[in-house]
Amino acid sequence: MPIDKNELRRVMGHFATGVTVITTLSKEGEIHGLTANAFTSVSLEPPLLLISVDKKAESYPYFEESRIFTVNILGEDQETLSRRFAVSGGGSKKFEGIAYHTGANGAPILEDAISYIECGLYAAYDGGDHTLYLGEIKQAEIFEGKPLVFFRGGYRTLGD
Ligand SMILES: Cc1cc2nc3c(=O)[nH]c(=O)nc-3n(C[C@H](O)[C@H](O)[C@H](O)COP(=O)(O)O)c2cc1C
Repeated sequence: MPIDKNELRRVMGHFATGVTVITTLSKEGEIHGLTANAFTSVSLEPPLLLISVDKKAESYPYFEESRIFTVNILGEDQETLSRRFAVSGGGSKKFEGIAYHTGANGAPILEDAISYIECGLYAAYDGGDHTLYLGEIKQAEIFEGKPLVFFRGGYRTLGD
């Protein structure tokens, strides 16, 4: 019998992750972003990372349209920001009142993120109800600060 959806969520939630906001833009230049923890390093040569985006997300069409995205790794004080970008819809309105600047690839870089990674789309693969995007890393920066952590469906901090 296939695993029940809620049970699957519970099981996967036992894998502690950081939290990111992934940003991109439409061809008209409207900015989009969503909270995501399905993010991993893939390759050093060429430098690649992986994200997984829900096909039902409002921002989903813009990843292939723009062929660029930026992964913003959130700091421990950015739970409110994470919650905001986890609410579906609103497009660029999600960014109202939020400090950000435009990166070299055109996608927003959020202030106070502990790192950002700018990518060009390298490849896309079907992942069931998600699409897996491999991003080729063009530019990245790291800053001081501890990460926001997601574990068992809740926000945590490292506590050390
Ligand atoms: C901690 C956390 C991690 C998430 N990870 C992902 C993810 O990796 N991929 C994804 O598509 N959605 C993920 N989501 C859900 C999206 O943030 C949510 O569906 C969002 O509303 C999509 O925004 P949009 O519809 O405006 O594009 C996550 C949500 C939370 C709270």
